[in-house]
Amino acid sequence: MRIIDCIDKKVEKLPLTTEEIHFVVENYTNGRIPDEQMAALLMAVRLNGMDDRETADLTYAMMHSGDVVDLSGIDGVKVDKHSTGGVGDTTTLVIAPLVAACGGVVAKMSGRGLSFTGGTIDKLESFPGLNVEQSPDQFLRIVNEVGVAVIGQSGNLVPADKLIYALRDVTGTVRSIPLIASSIMSKKLAAGSDAIVLDVKTGNGAFMRTTKEAIDLARLMVALGKHLDRSVTAVVTDMNQPLGMAIGNALEVREAIELLSDRIAPEDPLFRLCLTLGAEMLMLSGLAQNKEEATDRLQEAIISGAGLAKFKAMVKAMGGDERYCDPYQINELCKVEKKVQVYVSNAGIIQAMDTEELGKAAQVLGAGRARKEDPIDPAVGIMMHVRVGDSVSQDTPLCTLYINDETNEQDSINRVLSAVQIGSTPLEKFPLIYEIIRGEDV
Ligand code: URA
Ligand code: CA
Repeated sequence: MRIIDCIDKKVEKLPLTTEEIHFVVENYTNGRIPDEQMAALLMAVRLNGMDDRETADLTYAMMHSGDVVDLSGIDGVKVDKHSTGGVGDTTTLVIAPLVAACGGVVAKMSGRGLSFTGGTIDKLESFPGLNVEQSPDQFLRIVNEVGVAVIGQSGNLVPADKLIYALRDVTGTVRSIPLIASSIMSKKLAAGSDAIVLDVKTGNGAFMRTTKEAIDLARLMVALGKHLDRSVTAVVTDMNQPLGMAIGNALEVREAIELLSDRIAPEDPLFRLCLTLGAEMLMLSGLAQNKEEATDRLQEAIISGAGLAKFKAMVKAMGGDERYCDPYQINELCKVEKKVQVYVSNAGIIQAMDTEELGKAAQVLGAGRARKEDPIDPAVGIMMHVRVGDSVSQDTPLCTLYINDETNEQDSINRVLSAVQIGSTPLEKFPLIYEIIRGEDV
């Protein structure tokens, strides 16, 4: 078999066989296929696509390119969740413990922030002492004892994706629906859970800029799960403004703790999305028959404090100082040298927000990295005070910047001001949840 023949076939819009796809993944991962040939093949895929069978074969081959986590030592249905990445998106920190408080089993591997988007692992590291790198034995022990653990992705999980993703990033081949679906699903499947709820973001703070693209991606990932014997539900959700009000690591942890302490209103988008995703996780786990029952149980776990207790137990089991899992104490981790409020110069109604730019405004303050090796300052970031459709004037701040290093203060302010579009038209509220796609829908 030769890679050049695979490239030719894809250029001619012909499907690759299962054997050809395995050959490509295996030999690119072990270094026998050079970058230039793999890049040519990826570009042909980006332009000519792949059918569902090819995408399933690619996912399977990538999934088996490294370790596949065995969670069979943990009783019960293991349920995972994944977000395709957004800004102010703190759902994992809320839902993982809430679902555990309702009897679910959450053994989750998460990532760090990528570009302008935040990552759960960076957020968890806001807790002094918390170690996100747990051995497989420790991971299983914590999940068995607490019902939930969220740790960093192990070193040899889907090495094929690490290599292919890095190549896609520099060859204009990221935005291909089959390539994104296989990249995400190979990692989720290798992480070993029985059931997976996907939060597929759409909008100006997401990879998928249109709802149609997001729905296509969501359907494909649900179909891939079905093909490979896992229960998958995808929820397509809005990312045309930050989901929560906090953008930054300890700030987002604080918002999650406030939600788990029943201090956030049920109409709040972060609250609503957490309940929607959590309900799908309970249903896939067989712990609730329908949405109403699932939602009631999640709400009870907030009101009783059972969800917060799980969060605290998880932080403690991972070596973190659990005293900060309290809506007052957590403020200590959000202390900064300086807070700056940002105001608009003209009164009006917020017409739109450039969500990616708001993510970058927090990133330049030190909440995210510009390069892989950059440190993160957990305390810094942005607290938004307004949402799209809100009225603002010269004396109502758009947001408060939390700053420790003034170097990029002006850059951050400029980004916030350029991100928020003010006009005079009153706006209809736009949807938070566009579509829910379950196994039976594909
Ligand atoms: N996230 C992934 O893990 N892979 C992609 O290709 C895109 C987003
Ligand atoms: Ca189903």
